[in-house]
Amino acid sequence: MKKISVASAPGKTILFGEHSVVYDEPAIAGAVNKRATVSLCKSHNNYSTLKSNDLGFEVIMDTRRGTYTLKRGKPGIIRYILNAMGKFHDHTSIDMDLSLNLPIGSGLGSSAAVTVATIAALHHYHGVDFNKETLAKEAHAVEEEVQGIASPLDTLVSTYGGLVYLSREKRIVPFDNNLDAPFVIGYTSKYGNTGKVVKKVKTLKNNYPELVNPIIDTMGKIANEARVAILKNDIDKIADLMNLNQGLLDSLGVNTYELSRMIYTARDNGAVASKITGSGGGGSIISLCREDNVDEVAEAINVEDRTIKVKFSKDGVLVNRKSPPLS
Ligand code: MEV
Repeated sequence: MKKISVASAPGKTILFGEHSVVYDEPAIAGAVNKRATVSLCKSHNNYSTLKSNDLGFEVIMDTRRGTYTLKRGKPGIIRYILNAMGKFHDHTSIDMDLSLNLPIGSGLGSSAAVTVATIAALHHYHGVDFNKETLAKEAHAVEEEVQGIASPLDTLVSTYGGLVYLSREKRIVPFDNNLDAPFVIGYTSKYGNTGKVVKKVKTLKNNYPELVNPIIDTMGKIANEARVAILKNDIDKIADLMNLNQGLLDSLGVNTYELSRMIYTARDNGAVASKITGSGGGGSIISLCREDNVDEVAEAINVEDRTIKVKFSKDGVLVNRKSPPLS
């Protein structure tokens, strides 16, 4: 019977503290219940393959050279997988399958989830001992090599799961909570360029320090208040803080017409709060909903943009070896 190594890792979203975190203010982010799953097994061929029905592509890989031959589709995410293969695989032939139930470009950290799941599956396949600390670091190194610059937050949250509070000192503090509310992530096809948007805020801050510094400072205070509100599961307060944070993000110039459209569509259709998540300048929003209106909010945004419904999840990377059913 063929042995299969399977590993999965979640996407993440930022709830509070984007941009202010760049200036050492605290932030809150969390793993969501949408995941990347990587399955590996020994191949009967003398080459390695990678297939993803969810992303609609199939390739033959040369893991030694880090190249591939396309059989079908567009394998955008493959650079992360090939980089991980170069570092953590012995180049024997394997067949690999990737399933992804979080959309690429939705701001949910799909590349980090794919990278964490790939490395975990490879380590497991090779019987290599690993822990979450080393895995998060290895995945961050892959992201940095592929992207040039990468936030360690994505790979950390994807590895550990749960909600984390990122302190002023850049310490990751997981915190226990019972936040079970439904959220809608809305995203546009206009991607934000994080580097460019971060630079824009920096210029504003340099030009108007007396005005902008207090805004950044207030964003930090909001994240601290939010931590307490989340611990108490005080949804009304979490909602107020998200909406307040949105006003401040808007004042920093990171909002766009499309993001605003999604935010107000969500609010007009019953979302209790709605704000940009991630860098803005294109990209994604996050809306806090109620169980009885989450579908309505998603449908309303879907008229012009796209959505995915999520909840925060305690699960980080999960690894298991299983045998396929007898055929
Ligand atoms: C981007 O996802 C979040 C920012 O705060 C940038 C960063 O923290 O690296 C805008």
